Amino acid sequence: MPLSSRHLLGLQGVPGEDIQLILDTATTFREVLERPIKKVPTLQGKTVVNLFFESSTRTRISFELAEKRLSADSINFSASGSSVSKGETLKDTMRNIEAMKVDMVVVRHSAAGTPLFLTKVCNSNIINAGDGIHEHPTQALLDMYSIREKLGKISGLKVCIVGDISHSRVALSNIYGLKTMGAKVSICGPSTMIPKYIEELGVDVIYNIDEAIQENDVLNVLRIQLERKAREYFPSIREYVKYFGIDDERLEKNGKDILILHPGPINRGVELSASVADGRNQIILNQVTNGVAVRMAVLYLLGTSN
Ligand code: CP
Repeated sequence: MPLSSRHLLGLQGVPGEDIQLILDTATTFREVLERPIKKVPTLQGKTVVNLFFESSTRTRISFELAEKRLSADSINFSASGSSVSKGETLKDTMRNIEAMKVDMVVVRHSAAGTPLFLTKVCNSNIINAGDGIHEHPTQALLDMYSIREKLGKISGLKVCIVGDISHSRVALSNIYGLKTMGAKVSICGPSTMIPKYIEELGVDVIYNIDEAIQENDVLNVLRIQLERKAREYFPSIREYVKYFGIDDERLEKNGKDILILHPGPINRGVELSASVADGRNQIILNQVTNGVAVRMAVLYLLGTSN
């Protein structure tokens, strides 16, 4: 059964059946990752280009590993060191790469809408690996996979996304995906970091982190994006930590065995204390492992649908 689109640009409007199919397919690939030989021939003969115009550790390595595990040929492109630095446009860059006969493109870019733009100028399957403050669909898919793996379901769970919602592509993709899969979604953070339109997406807004801990089954805690000038939205890091940082004392005070996710990279001592970031409530490295399986599922389902 194929997906309803030949691209993955975001989770807005993606049917629940597609999300379910990706998560179920990822379960099969997750098992492959436990084998002594972690490789299947599924995408042999396909070529995937990883087009990264922004920094990444997890997403980039995870996609590259997923491609290698599926036996695809994998090419890595970085803006620095390419002809982009000589002024070549994105369209020309893409068309030249595609002229070398690639099949799929994984793209990360600081400009929202870049993956959609690429669908207009080339024929490859396009996968969004994070576009500005818009969406990061594979992150939300791996978050949902990890929640389902740990708690056995998504539907009916109460999930709160905490932190810098305004600058977060992870938040938006999680909101779309989780709501489609039947979770009750809320957000929590400083009022300056909560977009005015957010309630139109059907989420509740909580301004008090203790209330968020008490009322939810899962917290997905976001990074404060200092590189996107997030620091201008609250008086000081110390104040952010006091009102929204999660540490052992706060978890104990609220008496709650809550599940904690974080997409990474973590600002240790800011959104999570070091002991919570390594503690028994979190599943941060499980998310990273599951990310490879989820990306294998997306590449497989898109790469075999043409
Ligand atoms: N979660 C995430 O997108 O991390 P990277 O920026 O390291 O890819």
